[in-house]
Amino acid sequence: MSLLAYVIHWACHAKTTNMLSNQRSKFSLPANSIYLNCAYMSPLLKSVEKAGIEGIKRKRNPFSISTSDFFGDTEKVRAEFAKLIHAPDKKQIVIIPSVSYGMANVVANVRISKGENMIVAAEQFPSNYYPWQKLASEKQAELKVISPPSDLAGRGKIWNERILQSINNKTKLVALGHVHWADGTLFQLAEIRKRTRAVGALLVIDGTQSVGALPFDVEQIQPDALICGGYKWLMGPYSLGLAYYGSNFDGGKPIEENWINRLHSENFAALGNYKNEYQPGALRYEVGEHSNFILVPMLLAALKQINAWKPKNIQQYCSKIASGAIAELRENGFWIEDEKNRANHLFGVRLPEGIDREKLKVRLQKNNISVSFRGDAIRVSPNVYNKESEMRKLAQVLIG
Ligand SMILES: Cc1ncc(COP(=O)(O)O)c(C=O)c1O
Repeated sequence: MSLLAYVIHWACHAKTTNMLSNQRSKFSLPANSIYLNCAYMSPLLKSVEKAGIEGIKRKRNPFSISTSDFFGDTEKVRAEFAKLIHAPDKKQIVIIPSVSYGMANVVANVRISKGENMIVAAEQFPSNYYPWQKLASEKQAELKVISPPSDLAGRGKIWNERILQSINNKTKLVALGHVHWADGTLFQLAEIRKRTRAVGALLVIDGTQSVGALPFDVEQIQPDALICGGYKWLMGPYSLGLAYYGSNFDGGKPIEENWINRLHSENFAALGNYKNEYQPGALRYEVGEHSNFILVPMLLAALKQINAWKPKNIQQYCSKIASGAIAELRENGFWIEDEKNRANHLFGVRLPEGIDREKLKVRLQKNNISVSFRGDAIRVSPNVYNKESEMRKLAQVLIG
């Protein structure tokens, strides 16, 4: 095949399969750095940076900020996020400042008593562990922490089976990620949902390390809550995230009482006529000052871009650029979970015996490669700005 025919063939293939091309030009990453650490935080899209700067400039003259602006962009953010997670009603979505805040609203509305239990995965991120640990100790309930097998063979599959087996008719809540934050192990949420439903337990998902890069469908999984930090796979600024609360939380107790969540708060002149009712759906759970005129437009720009890319295409892109490097690492004794039981955008690389982790850290730094060391795995988390050659370079440096 001539070069021209090959290029035409590839372009047509990419078009019919929606294959994403490399998106680095939309970011400001320096050419000589290999950033494989979106699970730590995403780099800023140029469009997101621009929205933030425009937001700052608007405050120069507050004349330009009208009362409807307190509501307009947050509504747009809700709509974009609803599209991303396939949620039928955007009023179930609220802006939160952190995952811990989103979880606190769940804690305030969970009914659990002595002798009942809640379930988490081992070494879960602290913001999705401490709330349940504290609630369990306050209510004299049990917190079951489900560990993976120590043997690596079949690790993800067996871990999921253990979680399913641990759910019983005393279980009131299961709190997980869609993927484990440290090594990308995939939790089989559809099956876990079925089991939680059978025993009447809530399913609470921390989507911080998955939503934005891995498809999540609220209509399919029907979580009771989905809580996401915004500065990783959602590509937003720090200190802003999103939470979806299902109908079990309608009519519940929010952790704070702010004016904007009360009915008719759009009518600024009448704010002194206090209202007992809240705004509809889950809006009572939204953080005070959620109209943040700098951060909200940034998150909105980020969500628009992610919806244009689509998470399934991001998975496909990450799989494509990583597959060669993963094969090479496996040939050299490194262990990576099989593709069925892990995500493509975040995965753990476990080292063969005899490799000095401290020396490896120095080698990675010398080669300008950013990854994270979490638990006993090296967490590699590529995204659409990375290239296959960067993954190959990582493999070379790890192999040494
Ligand atoms: C899975 C997960 N959840 C939550 C967070 C952040 O939590 P918070 O927003 O409470 O700081 C992180 C940060 O690394 C995370 O990896």
